[in-house]
Amino acid sequence: IAPAATTMLPPEGLPRLNAAMQQCRTCPIGALATQAVAGEGPLAPRLMFVGEQPGDQEDLRGRPFVGPAGQLLERAFAEAGIVREEVYLTNAVRHFKYDLRGKHRIHKTPSQQEALACLHWLREEIALVRPRALVALGATAARSLLGRSVVVRAERGTWLARGDGLQVLVTLHPSALLRLPVSQQARAFEEFVTDLRRAAA
Ligand code: URA
Repeated sequence: IAPAATTMLPPEGLPRLNAAMQQCRTCPIGALATQAVAGEGPLAPRLMFVGEQPGDQEDLRGRPFVGPAGQLLERAFAEAGIVREEVYLTNAVRHFKYDLRGKHRIHKTPSQQEALACLHWLREEIALVRPRALVALGATAARSLLGRSVVVRAERGTWLARGDGLQVLVTLHPSALLRLPVSQQARAFEEFVTDLRRAAA
């Protein structure tokens, strides 16, 4: 009997990567999620935005940044003159990690080991997508992109170099803005937009 690989050639590039990602069970998160969420956007974009992991909506719909954090990100994009369809959006971790409370699935931050187990997908995606620069949304993405822990408040808003020559701008995760007391949200949003403007400049 011929092995399947001799009769079914794997698709190349991003479709191959995204199909392989669906099978990933390297860490325990995958078994509980609906699906792995691949990145989306054009090839060779000016910017690739990297979030932490899909949320509840993203897990169900199979697309990055389509829930509340995505809506806030799109509002900030509009203020910063960034067009969502012209940038690439992806995540450091590809499956939704959550705690079940009654009927609700509550976001749980992925561990460093889980983010590390997912890193090869991101590396391969960056190589295939070839962005001109990277934006890390929050500490998980910053760690995955820079290979070290990052205190977002201390390093946000400036370009940081990676070993491969790509530049990374670190900023807050939009979910962090949503968690702030209402009285602090307007100012934090303006600061977020300032970081995005810098990334887009
Ligand atoms: N938060 C993320 O980090 N990524 C998403 O895709 C959605 C919410």
